Amino acid sequence: MPIIKFSMLISGSSSQELARKIAAELNEELIQAETKKFPDGELSVRIEQDITEPAVVIQSLNHPQNDNLVELLFILDLLALKGVKKIACVIPYYAYARQDKVFKKGELDSARTIAKILKDSNVSYAVTCDLHFQRTEGEFDLYGIPAYNVAAGDLLVDKAKQEFGDVTVITPDAGSAEQAKAVGGVSLSKERLTSFEVELSGEVDATGKNILLLDDMVTTGGTMIKALKLMKEKGAAKTIAAFTHAAFVGDASDRLKASADLVIAADTIPSEFAKVTVSEKIAEAIKKWKT
Ligand code: R5P
Repeated sequence: MPIIKFSMLISGSSSQELARKIAAELNEELIQAETKKFPDGELSVRIEQDITEPAVVIQSLNHPQNDNLVELLFILDLLALKGVKKIACVIPYYAYARQDKVFKKGELDSARTIAKILKDSNVSYAVTCDLHFQRTEGEFDLYGIPAYNVAAGDLLVDKAKQEFGDVTVITPDAGSAEQAKAVGGVSLSKERLTSFEVELSGEVDATGKNILLLDDMVTTGGTMIKALKLMKEKGAAKTIAAFTHAAFVGDASDRLKASADLVIAADTIPSEFAKVTVSEKIAEAIKKWKT
């Protein structure tokens, strides 16, 4: 039973298309914050309209992640100035999620820091998608913020099946094991050698099969391209690169296109590969907010 009664949806600049789809799913009006960038790189954000609570802010933290984060914080502070205290935040791509622990003495768990800033900005509910440290769909605790994580794996697998019929799902590392399990797949093992290079291993029978490689995100493409090559070497009939977040750097998208028979992503970050939308699942997750 959804407890949310009325909400105003406000979109930042990074998720405009997805925000429109979410608003259409919820049959709610969408307010677009006006963002300006000055020549020195500083941002200014304006929301002319009055806002009533509860309000839902939608903003992905993809590249340029620090700009998108500052824009989100400005939107949240504008809402506070307008007297809005009940705020949910939809963050389709949550930057810094891979820094989810202190790896070396003296470092930060930066994912926690982001959540702390959001909490200090009145965010009392968060919706994320295939968060690096929360790969299954459902409710979870985002460092003290009640949250719901949406998984895109089933949508990506269904899309690949429409193209190729039967597919066998494999994830490139043990970190994706839960994601693989949710869609009946198995995982390879990964060792990261440098920021761009990984070593993969694992016993997988790929001969003559359509192999769908599933991951939460692609940045340099190192992991996915290595996995695609490995599956071809093992005799895969077709290879499909499927991932939620197209967080590409450099020429990763071109190298990926050249390495797979099909590349599909979700629309958490706009890209030419965004062939499935998480809008319906996000709309359902917003409805679960107990304001
Ligand atoms: C790592 O744990 C993630 O699940 C991805 O496999 C990784 O972030 C992909 O990065 P890249 O494209 O640079 O290999």
